[in-house]
Formats: sequence, structure tokens, C-alpha cells
Amino acid sequence: MPIDPTLAFRLREVVGAQVLVDPELVASYTADWTGRFRGHTAAVVFPASTEEAAGVVQVCRESGVAIVPQGGNTGLVGGGVPLHGEVVLNMGRLGGSEPVDRAGGQVTAGAGVTLAGIQEVAAESGWSYGVDFSSRASATTGGSVATNAGGIRVLRYGDTRAQLLGVEAVLGTGAVISHLAGLVKDNTGYDLSGLICGSEGTLAVVTRVRLRLVPPAPERAAALIALRNLDAALGTAAVLRRSLPQLEACEIIFTPGIDLVCSVFGLRRPFLRPSPVNLLIEVADRVDPTDILIEAIGSAEHVIDTIVATDSPRRAELWRYREELTAAINTLGPPHKLDVTLPTTSLAGFIDAVPDVVSTIEPTASTWLFGHVGDGNIHVNVTGLRTDDDRVDGAVFELVARLGGSISAEHGIGSAKRRWLHLSRSAAEQTAFRALKRALDPDGILNPHVLIPDA
Ligand code: MLT
Ligand code: ZN
Repeated sequence: MPIDPTLAFRLREVVGAQVLVDPELVASYTADWTGRFRGHTAAVVFPASTEEAAGVVQVCRESGVAIVPQGGNTGLVGGGVPLHGEVVLNMGRLGGSEPVDRAGGQVTAGAGVTLAGIQEVAAESGWSYGVDFSSRASATTGGSVATNAGGIRVLRYGDTRAQLLGVEAVLGTGAVISHLAGLVKDNTGYDLSGLICGSEGTLAVVTRVRLRLVPPAPERAAALIALRNLDAALGTAAVLRRSLPQLEACEIIFTPGIDLVCSVFGLRRPFLRPSPVNLLIEVADRVDPTDILIEAIGSAEHVIDTIVATDSPRRAELWRYREELTAAINTLGPPHKLDVTLPTTSLAGFIDAVPDVVSTIEPTASTWLFGHVGDGNIHVNVTGLRTDDDRVDGAVFELVARLGGSISAEHGIGSAKRRWLHLSRSAAEQTAFRALKRALDPDGILNPHVLIPDA
């Protein structure tokens, strides 16, 4: 789809040469990481400042052209790619962090700084950042704020919104709001930063973020625990959460997932005796937490085997069984990623039921279950389905809703789950969503095809 020459001219007036229009060059910005969501665009634009981002939004608004804001393109629900020919507003050039406020434990960073970049800046200044997930090298702070990203440390530090002290952002009107003073107590009306966080680019384009840092906990120990069955795993997770204030991660991995990672990446199987279900946990403190970890595991029932890792390379080896799972599953073809939360009381019932729900609809499909069990978040990945066949998605979300859960724990709604938003949000809530959208983006140019279903 060639770009309208007037639009191209006006965009170049704002960002100079930073407009890609060549179909070969734009291709990598139009498909998501999994390969499930593929779109097209006439242009990818790379602003280098808030002013340039505002200029692009203004030009698109005047031209009646929709925009998809894009960070590291690591999203998993088709929310950051131009599925309807939108212009892509890639935020990768908005890099750079200001010096860390060492006394306050805060930092302001450009939307294009990666998660790994923020973690590094925090560590260099004697602090730590509370959010972590496996796509840390590519995912950006702007994208993680726009999607309210979760990850492996939510049970200790909360999600991205819990770290957010303010944003600078361009509204759909082209107006810029900037609230970056980082005042912890700031009770002056609507929390626009909290509202923009998780709005998936539908209300504003995030250009800078003010983040809270957390005290470092440099002494770490991880354990992979093999358990007899699901009830034992969930019971152990509960015991560990209660007995270990230092608990930073508590992940569940089923043995077929570990086997898949081992076969794709040539890793050794962790245990000689096969176990159906495993927990991967990590504790972190200022003093060595290994003894406390071992004692807590010792008090758990139905443990078949445990591997404890204290030094960094051994911990990284254990984490590979969990973090390589996403890439391993992708080798089987684009998965349907159903990221859901259940109340503690329904988690076991859901995990038991979901493979049958899938196989009843598509007997040849495979169900892969894993995730952040410490906060009730299970990732249901289904392979062997056509990318556009969403019967399984719908059936799993219906089950989640019946059991009192949410159809999105941390990935967001994007375009993938939009038509099921009613399972987690009431009609009145959706009406409020639409009113907010109209107020901040009156022409509906910001990511108009994600999150909010058409009325
Ligand atoms: C993860 O925790 O690894 C991702 O959020 C889940 C996924 O890849 O489905
Ligand atoms: Zn996850």
C-alpha cells in the first residue's frame, strides 16, 4: 500500500528522514513476534522526542490516519502491529534515562529504553527495578507502561502500574501531558498516568516515564522443585508464599514443557525421576537466603526432588527451563496465547479442565500450561490451531469467566481478546471506556482496533 505523498511529506517535515515506506523495510514492524498477527502499513515513523511524537500525532489527526504506537514489538495479543493498515509510530528512538534520583530511588526514562536498560541503570545507582520478564532485552519501558506489563516479580513488587510515578504522553488530540516530578504523595485529582498505563495505546502515546525503584536484594537462591501432583504444587506455592517474605518468583512448569525446552535447546533433563509438575522459585535478600529457602522447601509435603542453585550461572541454567518455553513453543508454529488469572480457589479446577476444553474442540491441538502461579496467572498456550481459528480461545475464556477469573492477567486485550472483553468488563465499564477514549482521542486515531470492542 503506497503512502499518500502529502502524508509522507508532512511526516518528514516532523521527523526528517526517519520515515520508512519501503515495503521490505517496513515488513518487520508489521508482524508480531509469534507470527500469529500480520498486518500492513504505508509507513513506520521514528520520532526522537516528545515534540516529534506530538507532531506525528497532529499530522495523522489532520490527515484522518490511524496510528499504532509500537515499543519493542514483544506484545502477545496483536496490540502493537498495524492489522488495519495504520501508520506505525515506533518509539525506539526515544531512548536515554536521566540520572537516577539516588536519594528518592526514582528514574525518568525515554519510552524506548529497554527493560534491561532500566534494570542496568537502576543497578548502577545502587537500586533495583521491580519488574522483570523474559523479553527484557527488547521490551521497552513505554510498551510495558502502555500494556501494564507483569512478569516474574509481580508477587513481590506488583505490576508496572505499581512502579509508575508519572508519564509524559501525547494524547490523541496532539496535546502533551507531562507529570514527571515523581512525588510519591500527589493527591491532585485524576491519576492520568495510572489510566494511560494499561490503555494499550488507545488514549495516548507514552514518550517518557517516571519509575519507582526498589532496594536491591543481591543475595539470591533459586530452586526447581519436582512435585507429585498439581494439588501438591499449589499447596507448596501457598506455603512458600506464606513462609518466605523474600520470595521473588514462583513459577509453575509442567513436565511436557520442560521436555519440549530440552529437546528444542538440547538441555539435560533436570531430574532423573520424572515428575508431573514443577515449581521454579527464587528468593532474594541482602543476606544469603539459601538456608531459609532449603528450610521452607523441607517443610513442604509431596516434594519428589529439588535442585537448589545459588550462583548466577546455575540459577540461569534453572531459569532456562522456564524462560525458553515461549521460544520452544513457537517452534511448533504460531501459538494461541491465552494469558489468564484465576482466583486461588479455582486454579486447580481450571488447570485440570482446560486441556479437555481444547481437545474437545480440536483433538489434534496441544495445550501447554505454565506461568506465574504465585499470583494466580496461568499461560495457556495452544499449538496446532489455525491462526484465525478462535473457537478454542472463546471456550477457554468462557471457562475462565465461569470460574471468576480474568481473560487477561498481564498481556492485555489487544486485538486478540477484544471480542471477549465483556467476559471481564461489564457493559457500564465498557461505556466508561468509550467515553474516556472519546475525551482523550476524539477522532479515534490511536490504536482504534484494540481493547475496546465496537459499540
Ligand atoms: C511468559 O511469562 O513467558 C510470557 O508472558 C507468556 C507466554 O509466552 O505466553
Ligand atoms: Zn508471563
